[in-house]
Amino acid sequence: MEVCKDRLSLARFRSGLGESVGFVATMGALHKGHLSLIEKSLQENTHTIVSIFVNPTQFGENEDFGSYPRTLEADLALCERAGVSAVFTPSVEDMYSTDEITFNPPKNMGYILEGFDRPTHFAGVIAVVLKLFMLVKPRKAYFGQKDAQQVLILQKMVRDLFLDIEIVPCEIVRDDDGLALSSRNIYLSAKEREIALCIPRTIALVEQHIKNGEMSVDKLKALALESLRLGETTLFYADFFNRELKPIAVVKKQESIFLLALRVGKTRLLDNLWI
Ligand code: PAJ
Repeated sequence: MEVCKDRLSLARFRSGLGESVGFVATMGALHKGHLSLIEKSLQENTHTIVSIFVNPTQFGENEDFGSYPRTLEADLALCERAGVSAVFTPSVEDMYSTDEITFNPPKNMGYILEGFDRPTHFAGVIAVVLKLFMLVKPRKAYFGQKDAQQVLILQKMVRDLFLDIEIVPCEIVRDDDGLALSSRNIYLSAKEREIALCIPRTIALVEQHIKNGEMSVDKLKALALESLRLGETTLFYADFFNRELKPIAVVKKQESIFLLALRVGKTRLLDNLWI
């Protein structure tokens, strides 16, 4: 496996590969969620390139850029074992200059939900993913449905900018207790983790009621709010949308998403259900 520490070494390595390159963008601290994306890419492409880059532009001023977990050695070992062709680990200086051209996310998708509390977040995601796409030149790129708003905005980016790249959304991978895997779960104390389990329980509850035929958003939302431990958590949102992130009143199969974000202790946790 090649470790490309800068753009030049990635460009050299990439020039020796053909068309069939799959790409998984990450910020490291890799877990089974990331691995599921890598494995899907390995199945569907001749070569898989993984990037590990804690992207400063998607963090707000008071967020955890400085303390975000960094476990490069273990991450590289995991990629090597999995059969990845190359890992790209650029520096911030390698990825960004000053006073750059920027793209903003769509107004209706980029500044609600995660973008409401973190208004610069998706512009940062777009900036880095677009740059990574230009460097890696993948045919397919794999993103987790765990970050639903991110994957929907990136699909829109690919359509709007005529990029010849297929975005492949991949299912949420959960820990044994049901909590969606996230690099930030390590911030949770044992007690906080116990409280956080109300999130997957709520997702499962909503899913069960939809299976039983409940399609009213008002009713499903009331059920969800009852099952979240709101005394012990801070709720950011728990709501239903279509795939363009417009609010809906009635759930439709294959078209709706239930998005949930809340804070337990100091940790912001996301989960969702693609209906
Ligand atoms: P990061 O949080 O490291 O996640 C990298 C990819 O792994 C994302 O596509 C994310 O949705 C996916 N992922 C994380 N947890 C998952 C889980 N439990 N199940 C399935 N997939 C999961 O998302 C980012 O990094 C960044 O915003 C990035 C796209 C790399 C741009 O900087």
